[in-house]
Amino acid sequence: MVRVLSTLTSLTTDTIMDNLAVKSDSDTLLFYCNGTKIFDPDVDPALTLLTYLRTKLRLTGSKLGCGEGGCGACTVMVSKYSPKDKTISHIAVNACLTPICSVHAMAVTTVEGIGSTTTRLHPVQERLAKAHGSQCGFCTPGIVMSMYTLLRNRPQPTMEEIESTFEGNLCRCTGYRPILQGYKTFTKDGCCGGTNTTCCKNIPNGISVQEEGVLTTLFDASKFTPFDPSQEPIFPPELMINLYEMDSRPRTFVGVRVAWFRPVTLQQLLELKATNPKAKIVAGNSEVGVEVKFKNQHYPVLVDPTHIPELTSVERTPSGVRIGAAVSLTSVSDHLKEIIHKEPEHKTRVFAAIVEMLRWFAGHQIRNVATIGGNIATSSPISDLNPLFMAAVCTIELSSKSGKRTVSMDGNFFTGYRKNVIKTDEIILAINVPFTCENEFFYGYKQSPRREDDIAIVNAGMRVVLTPGTNEVQDCSLSYGGMAPTTVLATKTMKNITGRCWSDGLVEAMTPFLLEDLPLTPGAPGGMEPYRQSLTLSFFFKFYLAVLEQLRLKQPGLISGSAVPPSYKSANQPYHKNSARGVQLYQEVPSGQPDSDAVGRPLTHQSAFKQASGEAIYVDDMPPIKGELYLALVMSRKAHANILSVDTTVALALNGVHAYVNADDVPGNNLLGSSPVYDDVLYADKTVNFVGQVIGVIVADNQAIAQRAAKLVRVEYEELLAVFTIEDAIEQNSFFPVSRCIQTGDLDQGFETSDHIIEGEVRSGAQEHFYLETWTTLVIPGEGGEIEVISANQSPSRTQSLVAEALGIASHKVVSRVKRLGGGFGGKEARACLHAAVCAVAANKVKRPVRLMLDRNEDMMISGTRHPFLARYKVGVTSYGQLRALEVDLYSNAGSTYDCSPSVLERSMQHVDNCYKCPNVKVTGHMCRTNLASNTGFRGFGSPQAMLVAETIMSEIALKCGLTQIKVRDVNFYKGGDETFYGQELKHWNLDKCWDQCLVQSDYDNRRLDVDEYNRKNRWRKRGLAITPTKFGISFIVKYYNQAGALVHIYNDGSVLVSHGGTEMGQGLHTKMIQVASKTLRIPQEKIHINETNTSQVPNTSSTAASFSSDLNGMAIKEACETLLHRLEPFIQDNPKGTWESWVDAAYKDRISLSSTGFGRARDLYFDWEKGKGDPYAYFVYGVAVSEVEIDCLTGDHQVQRTDIVMDVGDSLNPAIDMGQIEGGFIQGYGLFVLEDYRVSPSGQLLTTGPGFYKIPSFGDIPAEFNVSLLTRAPNPLAICSSKAVGEPPLFLAASIFFAIKDAIQSAREDAGIPRAFRLDSPATAERIRMACQDQFTKQISTPEEGTYKPFFLRP
Ligand SMILES: Cc1cc2nc3c(=O)[nH]c(=O)nc-3n(C[C@H](O)[C@H](O)[C@H](O)COP(=O)(O)OP(=O)(O)OC[C@H]3O[C@@H](n4cnc5c(N)ncnc54)[C@H](O)[C@@H]3O)c2cc1C
Ligand code: FES
Ligand code: FES
Repeated sequence: MVRVLSTLTSLTTDTIMDNLAVKSDSDTLLFYCNGTKIFDPDVDPALTLLTYLRTKLRLTGSKLGCGEGGCGACTVMVSKYSPKDKTISHIAVNACLTPICSVHAMAVTTVEGIGSTTTRLHPVQERLAKAHGSQCGFCTPGIVMSMYTLLRNRPQPTMEEIESTFEGNLCRCTGYRPILQGYKTFTKDGCCGGTNTTCCKNIPNGISVQEEGVLTTLFDASKFTPFDPSQEPIFPPELMINLYEMDSRPRTFVGVRVAWFRPVTLQQLLELKATNPKAKIVAGNSEVGVEVKFKNQHYPVLVDPTHIPELTSVERTPSGVRIGAAVSLTSVSDHLKEIIHKEPEHKTRVFAAIVEMLRWFAGHQIRNVATIGGNIATSSPISDLNPLFMAAVCTIELSSKSGKRTVSMDGNFFTGYRKNVIKTDEIILAINVPFTCENEFFYGYKQSPRREDDIAIVNAGMRVVLTPGTNEVQDCSLSYGGMAPTTVLATKTMKNITGRCWSDGLVEAMTPFLLEDLPLTPGAPGGMEPYRQSLTLSFFFKFYLAVLEQLRLKQPGLISGSAVPPSYKSANQPYHKNSARGVQLYQEVPSGQPDSDAVGRPLTHQSAFKQASGEAIYVDDMPPIKGELYLALVMSRKAHANILSVDTTVALALNGVHAYVNADDVPGNNLLGSSPVYDDVLYADKTVNFVGQVIGVIVADNQAIAQRAAKLVRVEYEELLAVFTIEDAIEQNSFFPVSRCIQTGDLDQGFETSDHIIEGEVRSGAQEHFYLETWTTLVIPGEGGEIEVISANQSPSRTQSLVAEALGIASHKVVSRVKRLGGGFGGKEARACLHAAVCAVAANKVKRPVRLMLDRNEDMMISGTRHPFLARYKVGVTSYGQLRALEVDLYSNAGSTYDCSPSVLERSMQHVDNCYKCPNVKVTGHMCRTNLASNTGFRGFGSPQAMLVAETIMSEIALKCGLTQIKVRDVNFYKGGDETFYGQELKHWNLDKCWDQCLVQSDYDNRRLDVDEYNRKNRWRKRGLAITPTKFGISFIVKYYNQAGALVHIYNDGSVLVSHGGTEMGQGLHTKMIQVASKTLRIPQEKIHINETNTSQVPNTSSTAASFSSDLNGMAIKEACETLLHRLEPFIQDNPKGTWESWVDAAYKDRISLSSTGFGRARDLYFDWEKGKGDPYAYFVYGVAVSEVEIDCLTGDHQVQRTDIVMDVGDSLNPAIDMGQIEGGFIQGYGLFVLEDYRVSPSGQLLTTGPGFYKIPSFGDIPAEFNVSLLTRAPNPLAICSSKAVGEPPLFLAASIFFAIKDAIQSAREDAGIPRAFRLDSPATAERIRMACQDQFTKQISTPEEGTYKPFFLRP
């Protein structure tokens, strides 16, 4: 092996891969996976651990959610032995970013390795499932493995440690609360789930659980398998015994395109770098891995520095600490904490700032592998550590074969965007971080869109040294990230501050210098220029206050006259969040309900255990079929263009490529879409209408080859004028010819009789579905034109018919199957079916099975989003706030084709009233045509956007009329029996009950006083409180969709197989349907199974959407079961004491059919668009939420303190599932209204691709207290088992957070002496919050006028 290394060091990078002698001398990779020894003499170093696990070892439990370390779905545990200190360490890593060769001589544990449903589930798996913490299950294995790793390191963790361990895991379904609650049982004072009377759940904060028949327990923790840490698998002894041998020699792994070296001495590393300056050092691979996967980089020679002692040690030196460049960030933090603990506080102020910054640096999985050297070498302008290192004046040790040198990390270290003074043959050896002295103060700052696991918008490191015994500045360094192409020093400020006193007037004096030091021209990369500039001032102000406070505490005499006003103190308050807690209240089943009747009980999701153990099969987990090929998309790079030519020559010449498929290969119809208009092309042939549109498909042996070839296809375009935003569409008159209007009463008269007229605009942005499983399809051609499509989509029947149309065959030749989806939310309702047809055309061309799982960035580019909306409103009210007239123009951004946009628009128009009555209304809807991927259905289907308008209007009226937010709503609520503005009678009106209960539950009145009091006492932190109601209509807008079918078989052993038209995407539909069948057949749910959704079993089904699937499919299943029960009745009567099995057996032997179909449809619903009247909804679902937030007026940061929800779900079919839908929907709505900021470039390229740039809520974002009650004693006579739909209605309640933020901002504005009323668009991002607060800092910054410059990004 040494020979190989020396051979390689004598080769140049370009010749390495051609040297066959080297290839033949490649080492054998050895590691353990789940206790099994893996010995691979032919490993391909280009592979990630995840690909290796999933494709080579066929361990598909670990999921691919993003491929960039941002979602945690791929989390596994890596264990290694340290011969030096004879310890075994366990770390959680992202398998998607772990190079396979980096685990040589280590042990990997995946979700399959810790337990299974066939043997024994590990308590980590069991508790997650039983606590209802798994819905679609795609995130679940990653969450299980994060928790498992924590337990391996800390068998009894604290709640804080549990919350922290999930910083790198995302879940789009559950809303996180049940996961945390389930895992709380591992803590010392773990919650038993309410089993004991003393449990925290039974003494909830101010919430009465005295009501008879109301329960707070969704799982029985006393039945959990006890956790015994001593029973964990042992570390493979071979890896301990032979580690010295394995680790003391350099390793070389040579593949077809990539070679991997693991030198073990500095000398070897430097030799390698000297002969191959382009050899890429890969430490944690958290930058390099992303570059290779998403930035088209190829590094043929990779060098792993993690086994070189000089790079992996941490030493305390007389002047500070020396940290080896390959030390992981977790280790850096641990070592620094140790030193902080031992040394006097004043010496370790830089260390404390680094530790605090690392808390907000990525998630654990990244920090466990990412290195300090990797961060410095990357030299990203938004590196979180470099501003600290620069401000602390750290030194960097560099080394090359020709010698060592030490450079200071000063203003000269970074030489350009991601460039520095390190020479190509040099490596970073270590960084020296100095101690501070007593009169030296140091702080770090970071503001990012989301607090946890997010990159900075602006960050800073700030250090000041005061002349001893004075408050005079002796030296100061202020370093900023996110303000230029490199981390920069604010040099003029630093110069001018020297010699000044740290006292009143300092901030004002320094502001002009800071603005001069940190300018941003309009349109600067990153955008948000005024906000970023304001952050530079805010951070400095915070620094000023923090140092002043330190002086006050330590040397009060120095700052006489410059005391921090009490109302300023909270400006610097560190972020602190109590562990999430909450109560869930629901009604127990009536006494006397038979045990066998599962309806109304909190049953565990049917697939939860399989999901928690990694056994649940998603499309891409299916083993490859013989002859299977892989697809890669050739996508448009232009937003609007004519295609001039497509050259596939180079791509087709690549080894392993089988075909290029395009519009010419579509045997049937290339023009498809959602009814009523077919305007979606499968393959673009003449023009492209958005970036990402499919032009063709490469078919190849595997994904890597297909994707490489797709990038080699050359497309020439002739660009055309493109439109992206609603405002541009209005200006360019770019609309679909769909214009809807609903008018009632006499608008003119309404305005004339109004005391006040309020006019305004409000906008809501796009929202990406971000289901964890991207679009995935497997197509298997059969005999005689038959074709089987297995895909992750919500509409198997639509997939069937689109595939049939594309191929020009009858639907009976197509079988469309869906086992489960890793989340859908509307994003797999319409457009995923078209995508399946694209794949089917390819399979048809090559006559072989084909598979395609989109990468996250591809999925986000082509799948469409929730429709952005712009509302222009004019409202007339009386002086006491009553609505007299309402005129609203709703503009939706539909993207490039119709899809379901007309229905979305119609539904939005019918929800613009939310819960309020107005006698004179005119609502007009417009659909903007833009050059974006076609926007599509998303949980709520236009309603949340419209209800936001109603609530915005209410909040404006309250200000105008001087009413409280409660009063203005009280005055305007509909009453039971009223008609909506489009004429539907409001029967069974439960909103008032929800409203009253929520006011009491949330203790609204007292908390309003508290919030006002807090705001009076605090200038830079403000709290806000808001109450938000919702009324959500249930039905499909397209009338004929309101139907469903079922097929129920009873087998002669008594087991029952239910098939229906709905798909399981995490929402628990199959579980609820089993409960309906259990009730109807009067048998325990264990006897009933649902296998999959299959168009050959139940035909012509509607999409699983509109929250209506439980109702419709439930009706169908009920009917089928009733038919069967009716057939069994004679046998039951013949043998009343018999068993279910005996009756079935008797019927079977009597030749009675034990199979039946069932059919369900909603009552006749209609809407007459000519008259603007109708009865379009089967019924309405009601809910109310109260939320409280705290904002940081200086940065725009916020925290949700508490949310209380009361939701009317009728008689819940399954309270655990309904609770999950409410909490999950609410947190998704929180993403919509606050966090998720979708942006495109001015040329239409999606900028917010992947979890790195698009921030969905994470574990740390959930309300610190989250209480949810299901309205009791509210049966719904209009739906199955008196229940109500629940999937979509709760989402809008998250607007309570949006309006609480608005409330908080209003207080800040009042303090600043500006009007409380202002426009707040959704999402209420940190930028919008900060810029709405306005104060002496924002006033210093000029905001360029729109249209006078080219912005960096657009919000469509
Ligand atoms: C999900 C995710 C979240 C992230 N969050 C943050 C964040 O919050 N803040 C932040 O600042 N960054 C963040 N990053 C960026 C990244 O994690 C850091 O920059 C990290 O420190 C890089 O270290 P690494 O060891 O993984 O680097 P690698 O990817 O291994 O290498 C990065 C670069 O450094 C070079 N390099 C590595 N070691 C040396 C050495 N000793 N000498 C010379 N060159 C060397 C490599 O050749 C390469 O060019 C995030 C990345 C991901 C994927
Ligand atoms: S798939 Fe690895 S973190 Fe998302
Ligand atoms: S259950 Fe977490 S993403 Fe679906």
